Amino acid sequence: MSPFSLTRTLPADATAAALRADVSQGLSRTPKQLPPKWFYDARGSELFDEITRLPAYYPTRAEREILLARAGLIAAATGARTLIELGSGSSDKTRHLIGALTGLLSYVPVDVSESALESAGRQLLADHPGLDVHALVADFQQGMTLPPTPGPRLLAFLGGTIGNLLPPERAAFLRTVHGLLSPGDALLLGTDLVKDEETLVAAYDDPEGVTAAFNKNVLLVINRELGADFDPADFAHVAVWNADDAWIEMRLRARRELTVKIPALDLAVPFAAGEEVRTEVSAKFREDGVRSELHAAGLDLAHWWTDDAGRFALSLALRR
Ligand code: AVJ
Repeated sequence: MSPFSLTRTLPADATAAALRADVSQGLSRTPKQLPPKWFYDARGSELFDEITRLPAYYPTRAEREILLARAGLIAAATGARTLIELGSGSSDKTRHLIGALTGLLSYVPVDVSESALESAGRQLLADHPGLDVHALVADFQQGMTLPPTPGPRLLAFLGGTIGNLLPPERAAFLRTVHGLLSPGDALLLGTDLVKDEETLVAAYDDPEGVTAAFNKNVLLVINRELGADFDPADFAHVAVWNADDAWIEMRLRARRELTVKIPALDLAVPFAAGEEVRTEVSAKFREDGVRSELHAAGLDLAHWWTDDAGRFALSLALRR
C-alpha cells in the first residue's frame, strides 16, 4: 500500500457553487459581508504567508514558540498514533509536532486546497518515510468522515483559525470535533488572546500594506471566478477591534458611490460612499471562555499553554 493517499470528499464543483452562494447572499444583505475562506487562492495564500512574517503579526511566532516548548508534553499526554490536522495548508506548523510524536503512525492533513495537500504530503514523506499520510480534501464545516487510522488520535486546529468562526459556528464546529473523536482522543487548539487594542489592530493593519492587499484579494477572486468588475483601488482596508464581541473585524470600505457588476450571478451591487463589506471576523479568547466552550462540546481542557508574553494560547483538551 502506498504511504500517501488523497481523498476528495468535496465534489469538484462544490467550491464554485459555495462561492456563488456566499457572494450573492453576502453582497445582497445589509450590512454586506463575505466569508474569509475566499481569501485563500494561490495569491491569497502567498500573501498570508507574508503576513506571518510581518513584525506586527505576532500569532504565528507566538504559536510556534509554544509548540517548540510543549511538543514533548503533547506527545506524552496524548500518546497519539494518528495526527489529524484541520486547515493544514503547508503543514509548516506541524512539522515539529510530528517530529516529537514518537509513536505516530498516520498523519491526516485536511484542507480545501488539493494543491497544498499534494506538496505538503510529499514534503512530509521525504522527512518521515515510515508515516502513512492520508490527505483529505474536505471542508470541515460541511461535515466529513475520517479514514480508519489507529488511535489514540490527536486532532489539531492551529493558527487561531477557530477565531474566523462566529460563536454559533464555533459551537457547531467543536461538536463536530467531538463526533469525530473517541473517548480519550485529544484536541490541540490554537487561540489568539484578548489584549490591548493597539497591539491587536496593528497586527491587522500593517504599515507595509500586506494585510490590505490580502483583504482586497477577495475582490480579485470574485473578479476572476465570477467575472465581476471590482476595482480594488475603489476600496480602503479597515481593521477595527470590536470589544463587545471580542473580535477584530476586517472590512473593505467603498471610497465613493459605485456599482459593481457580477455577470455570473446576473447581479449589480450598489455601494454607497463609505459603505463597508465585512470580510473577516478574527475572535480573540480568554482561558475561561475557551474552557467553557470546550466543555459544552464534550471536551475537557487538560492543558493551557501560552507564549512567554501571554499573547497566544494552545489548549489540549480530552474528548469525554
Ligand atoms: C489564518 C485566520 C488565523 O485571523 O489572524 C491574518 C487570518 N487575517 N491577517 C487571523 C488573517 C488577517 C488569520 N487566520
